[in-house]
Amino acid sequence: MNNIDLLQKARETMKHAYSKYSNFQVGAALLTKDGRVYTGCNIENSSYGAAICAERVAFVKAISEGARDFQALALTSSNGKDVYPCGICRQFMSEFGLDLKIIVEDNDTYKEHVLKDLLPAAFTSF
Ligand code: THU
Repeated sequence: MNNIDLLQKARETMKHAYSKYSNFQVGAALLTKDGRVYTGCNIENSSYGAAICAERVAFVKAISEGARDFQALALTSSNGKDVYPCGICRQFMSEFGLDLKIIVEDNDTYKEHVLKDLLPAAFTSF
């Protein structure tokens, strides 16, 4: 699956965002090395702090279905501009490999990064 198709999956999933507090919708699509796609949207909560980002929703769906090896994550948001994973999501995703490609939609195009560049000097083990 190419970057454009993965971004399209993220866009479709963004429609399911539950974001009545921020009114900001985010969609993510996570591609495994063997070609499966797991999607996620942000899910907010009246206690605010219990909200979960789209990226982690995609990851927990994938991990709980047995997937472990990932090649790319596509991310899109309702403001159309590039949105980057928050610090918690960067740390969460790093657990499963710093070589993950991060594809960020930006207006009519996208930017491509690698997780290790977005999380320099990552804490990876103890
Ligand atoms: N959000 C995400 O889902 N992913 C990000 O990378 C940044 C922020 C969500 C959390 C919250 O529901 C809303 O965006 C506003 O912060």
